[in-house]
Amino acid sequence: MTDLTQQLQDMREEYDGKPLFKADLDDCPFAQFSSWLIEAQQAKVPDPNACSLGTVDENAKPMARAVLLKGMEDEMFTFYTNYKSRKARHLENNPYATMHFPWFSMERQVIVSGKVTKVAVDQSDEYFQSRPLMSRLGAWASRQSEVLDSRETLEKAFIDARDKLGEQPEKPPHWGGYALEPDSIEFWQGGPSRLHDRFIYRLTNGENLWNVERFYP
Ligand SMILES: Cc1cc2nc3c(=O)[nH]c(=O)nc-3n(C[C@H](O)[C@H](O)[C@H](O)COP(=O)(O)O)c2cc1C
Repeated sequence: MTDLTQQLQDMREEYDGKPLFKADLDDCPFAQFSSWLIEAQQAKVPDPNACSLGTVDENAKPMARAVLLKGMEDEMFTFYTNYKSRKARHLENNPYATMHFPWFSMERQVIVSGKVTKVAVDQSDEYFQSRPLMSRLGAWASRQSEVLDSRETLEKAFIDARDKLGEQPEKPPHWGGYALEPDSIEFWQGGPSRLHDRFIYRLTNGENLWNVERFYP
């Protein structure tokens, strides 16, 4: 066994959170998510709205990367990206995705899964215009997920975008939001002796009702 493997095997956190009971949970998974997100923010979890977005490619191979949750309205979880990126290609082929919120310092995680669709262009426009100028220009400069020969090429693209588009760049046509409409939301909270609490809300078939059940951890 290598030293690193030994160190990895010795890394062990004992969770000591209070037990979580069904009665503690809101009937509505979106209200439950909101209260855990606010608690994560209050607990100073870094980037509490960052999650790992899981997608699958055309060969059913999974891939994950971080994105920022930028809206939760009409029971949809919204993030913004480049519509020509690798994740966008995956979503065109298979619109099902998962968003994993890793609030490890709170001994919590939330997993939101469902179908993804593009948001309306005016919604993407509105969010784009709320971003800092550098981020707006960056969206023009980056051919996200394409091979890049050097950092200088990217910096030049950024300067070109700034010179051409000035202080009020429009949203690039290849940039916008996706909204994930969940059919399942899992809440996990660590407990002592690996007796963790795990609840999954699932949409009941054909009805717009959420059913929540406890699962073995
Ligand atoms: C904390 C964090 C937040 C990120 N947020 C976003 C985001 O909201 N949108 C985005 O397109 N990329 C975001 N990224 C970059 C992505 O993780 C990823 O590298 C990029 O979107 C390209 O992914 P793809 O090639 O799989 O499409 C973020 C990265 C980190 C580390």
